[in-house]
Amino acid sequence: MKTQFLQRHQILERSPTLLFVFSLLTVTIGGIVEIAPLFYLENTIEEVDGMRPYSPLELAGRDIYIREGCYVCHSQMIRPMRDEVERYGHYSLAAESMYDHPFQWGSKRTGPDLARVGGRYSDAWHVDHFNNPQSVVPESIMPKYAFLGRTPIEGEHIEDLLRTHRMVGVPYTEEMIENAVFDFAAQGDPDSDWDALVERYPGAVVSNFDGQPELTEMDALIAYMQMLGTLVDFSTFTPDASR
Ligand code: HEC
Repeated sequence: MKTQFLQRHQILERSPTLLFVFSLLTVTIGGIVEIAPLFYLENTIEEVDGMRPYSPLELAGRDIYIREGCYVCHSQMIRPMRDEVERYGHYSLAAESMYDHPFQWGSKRTGPDLARVGGRYSDAWHVDHFNNPQSVVPESIMPKYAFLGRTPIEGEHIEDLLRTHRMVGVPYTEEMIENAVFDFAAQGDPDSDWDALVERYPGAVVSNFDGQPELTEMDALIAYMQMLGTLVDFSTFTPDASR
C-alpha cells in the first residue's frame, strides 16, 4: 500500500511542472481555508471593557517612544506562552493595540516586553532609569535618555496630532480635541483641575512624572509607560473560546 502510494508520488517529484502545479494547488487550498473565514467575521478584535484612546500627554509620549526607536529593543506583545505570561502578565489582546497607529508589537527583545509595564515601577524609578539605566539595573545595556528631562515639551501641535489619529480611525470626540491642549498640561500637574481629563480618559494617571515643575519630554514618556497594559481589567475578561 505505502510503497504504491510513494511510487505514485514519484511521478510528481520527477516532473518539475507537475510538482509546481500541485504545490500551487495545495498552497491555494491552504490559503483559502485560512483567509476566507476572516471575511465572514464581523470583527477580528475581541470586545473588552476599558480600552480608550490615548490621552494627549500619553500620545505625545508614544511619539517620543517611536522617535527614539525604543521599539528596536522592546516589544509590546506578550505571547500566550507560559513563560511569557508568568513573566509579563496576561497575553496581549488585539483590542489592546487597536488605537496604535502604527502598532508597537516589535520584533526584537533586547530589553523586556513593555506591553504591561504600566504601574510596575514608580515615576521616580523611571526618572532614574531613563537618566542612567545602570544606576538601577547595573548590568543594563540600555542607553541613557537624560536629555528628555532637559527638553521642555509644549502642546502646540497636540490638537493636530489627535485629529490625525482620528483620521485613521481613533474615536477622538470633538470635545477631546477641543480640550487637548488643556488635558495635555493637566495630566502632568496634580494641582491642576484634572477631573474632566480623567472623565474623558478613564484610568489616566495624573502625576508630576519627572518631578520638575515644567513639562518635559520625560513627563510625556513616563505618562505613556505608566498606562501601558493597564486599561483592560483582566479579572472580568473571559476569552471567547471559554465564553
Ligand atoms: C539598546 C537597546 C535598548 C533601547 C534602545 C532601549 N532600551 Fe529599555 N531596556 C533595555 C534593556 C536591556 C533593559 C533591561 C535592563 C534595564 O532595566 O535597564 C531595558 C529596560 C527597560 C525598562 C524596564 C522594563 C522592565 O520591565 O523592567 C523600561 C521601562 C524601558 N527599558 C523603556 C525604554 C524606553 C522608553 C526606551 C526608549 C526611550 C528604551 N527603553 C530604549 C534595552 C533598551
